[in-house]
Amino acid sequence: MTPPREEIPMRINRTRLMESMDALGRVGETPRGGLTRLALSDEDRLGRDLLVRWMREAGLTVTIDRMGNMFGVRAGREALPPVMMGSHADSVPTGGRYDGQLGVLCALEAIRSLDDHGIRTRHPVGMIVFTNEEGARFQPAMLGSAVLAGKIPLEDAYNARDKDGLRLGDELERIGYLGPEPCAARPYRAYLELHIEQGPQLEEEGLQVGVVEGIVAIAWSRLTLRGVQDHAGPTPMRIRHDALVAAADVIGGVRALARRIGGDIVTTVGRLDVVPNIPNAIPGAVSLSIDVRDPDDRQIDRALEGIDELVREAARREGVTYDLAHYWRVPRTPFHADVVGAVEDAARSVGCGYRRILSGAGHDAQYMAAVCPTGMVFVPSRAGRSHCEEEFTAPDDIEPGANALFLAALSLAGRAE
Ligand code: GLV
Ligand code: MN
Ligand code: MN
Repeated sequence: MTPPREEIPMRINRTRLMESMDALGRVGETPRGGLTRLALSDEDRLGRDLLVRWMREAGLTVTIDRMGNMFGVRAGREALPPVMMGSHADSVPTGGRYDGQLGVLCALEAIRSLDDHGIRTRHPVGMIVFTNEEGARFQPAMLGSAVLAGKIPLEDAYNARDKDGLRLGDELERIGYLGPEPCAARPYRAYLELHIEQGPQLEEEGLQVGVVEGIVAIAWSRLTLRGVQDHAGPTPMRIRHDALVAAADVIGGVRALARRIGGDIVTTVGRLDVVPNIPNAIPGAVSLSIDVRDPDDRQIDRALEGIDELVREAARREGVTYDLAHYWRVPRTPFHADVVGAVEDAARSVGCGYRRILSGAGHDAQYMAAVCPTGMVFVPSRAGRSHCEEEFTAPDDIEPGANALFLAALSLAGRAE
């Protein structure tokens, strides 16, 4: 006998959620079970097509803005600002299938679950799929939410170019997701994002849910070193100006800088482009990226000064010229006490182990915090791994987080009865 509706536990449907993860995870799947679904690629288009279809099937009103951010909204009883949940559906190259798409699909699952339970909410409840969160193809990261929050002009975002020189605005149009809606902040009751932790803390402590209190400060820099391209054989060592030797110095220096500053700071050179990149030529030019993160903005200031100095010294030693641009900075972002509280209450009523946590990765929630009360739910990452094919979160660890997201959204939206 089917129990009366009130007696059905207020939970999401785990089987349906995992089926959706498998189906979307096949779009851009790598042979080793990871994901390559770069922003505005053909795979991104196919993933978006599937998400739009599912949003429409769930009865949501779907709109797309001029940055390609996709919105699906379920009406509430009153014409109030909606509670939005979401994340991104792009990935890094040879990344995993949990970073981003899990948050999008948990948002969809929460909305489908409202239907299962026949719940009407006071506020509308919706979901957002943000464009180019990863910053892997077009820099900087979190571009869709940055433009929405008014932090980066739409034209600047359109003019971002990938490594082959293709323009973001053209690629958005090519895949058919340059929508008609203005990309601008609207009144939202709240924004909630579920994401994998991408670090080891929850797993190490045997907890299922992270109640995210905020995100660390992030700075990205771009360095181009120019030396003299010449033959690797006849050119004596004493007359060389090797851009890659200077770059190697910078890479070592950036690592040493983090050790010197200490505390929680992390520094990474993740990208290196060498010209002409052949065995028998002295590298004439090298471009590289520098990523710096710390919970304290003042430590980032110190690090950027340190980078200015170590680049100057490395270039001087090798006799090369350079351009260094500190082109992207997001301050430490605390989340809203009401939303953090709603997530914590939800985790408690799910009955899982949870703790408060600070995010070391950037998320669209970082920009959304400037738009409306914002918070996040973390679920554990196996061995803390992410941005790799080994990225994994067990269904047993996903379910409590998905339920916490569902219950937090429901409490912020309010039941209509
Ligand atoms: C996004 O993945 C970031 O933290 O760079
Ligand atoms: Mn992500
Ligand atoms: Mn990521």
